[in-house]
Amino acid sequence: MNQDLPPYIDGRDVDKALSLWHSGQVVAIPTETVYGLAADACNGEAVAQIYATKARPRFNPLIVHVANIAMAKRYVIWTTEAERLAAEFWPGPLTLVLRRKDNCPLSELVSAGGETVALRMPAHPLTRHLLETFDGGLAAPSANRSGRISPTSAAHVQAEFGATIPLVIDGGICTVGLESTVLDLSTSTPVILRPGGITRAMLSPFLPRLGETVTGGTLKSPGMLESHYAPGIPVRLNVTEVATDEALLAFGRDVPPGSAHMLNLSPDGTLTKAAANLFSYLRLLDDTRYRAIAVMPIPNEGIGEAINDRLRRAAAPR
Ligand code: TXA
Ligand code: MG
Repeated sequence: MNQDLPPYIDGRDVDKALSLWHSGQVVAIPTETVYGLAADACNGEAVAQIYATKARPRFNPLIVHVANIAMAKRYVIWTTEAERLAAEFWPGPLTLVLRRKDNCPLSELVSAGGETVALRMPAHPLTRHLLETFDGGLAAPSANRSGRISPTSAAHVQAEFGATIPLVIDGGICTVGLESTVLDLSTSTPVILRPGGITRAMLSPFLPRLGETVTGGTLKSPGMLESHYAPGIPVRLNVTEVATDEALLAFGRDVPPGSAHMLNLSPDGTLTKAAANLFSYLRLLDDTRYRAIAVMPIPNEGIGEAINDRLRRAAAPR
């Protein structure tokens, strides 16, 4: 067992995770954004096991988590933009899409057969320790079944998968609560493919040529919203009035009365608090006792852009 572990880390879990990864299995890990379903990114069968566990469509590529920049350079053509952004935002909720190196040892499956890889260095101290000790990239999508709400606690992961995964490492509640920003640096104009914890305003000073945000990627028909992060009951957005058989997801002070049940993402209107609470509150309100989840408007600034992106997908036609 490693003597340098932070005190709350259970070294037995670390040893168990490493041996599961070495034998090609999937282990759920905490990150500061959401929990991930992690496997050895260089082992094609292990990566295939992630897709099978999530029931995820094959064409959706996976983020590879790295311990440091040196590890990133084993896999991709590192650029000056990547260097600048990593210096500023890593470890943290920023994923960089870069071109695969010649002879890149990563499974083709993490790129879904394409030429690029999405890389991220997570900030959670337990997961950084796991990555350093494993000494290789871990492919990890959010630890939910495809299309469903992302997990922000170990209990959420247990509820989603039960005994179908051999180990869930408990690193507490995720502090950011929304998935990382995905930034494509593989094309001539950098573009945000998914808004997240690192906002457009934070990135702009480092990227004078930052293009318009394109969520959903190239696989999506233009103008169509992909259903994702979907609770079991319908979601209704931007409500100012609520019915007596609806659950209300509120924000701020002016909460409309009369709902069957209400949870407030942030009574004082703080967007980072709302982001951290979003997925767990959606889970709590996802109950067939209610006809729908009614959601109050959220300001579309800073991380509010990412919150609204997730809410639009949660409300999209299934
Ligand atoms: O915060 C996060 O990013 C979490 C934690 C676990 O790190 N992970 C996560 O992974 O949200 P996932 O698989 O649920 O979402 C990955 C996103 C998808 O929208 C995927 O299409 C995009 O990243 N992506 C992955 N690889 C890509 C690539 N090579 N090119 C473009 N987009 C990519
Ligand atoms: Mg996901």
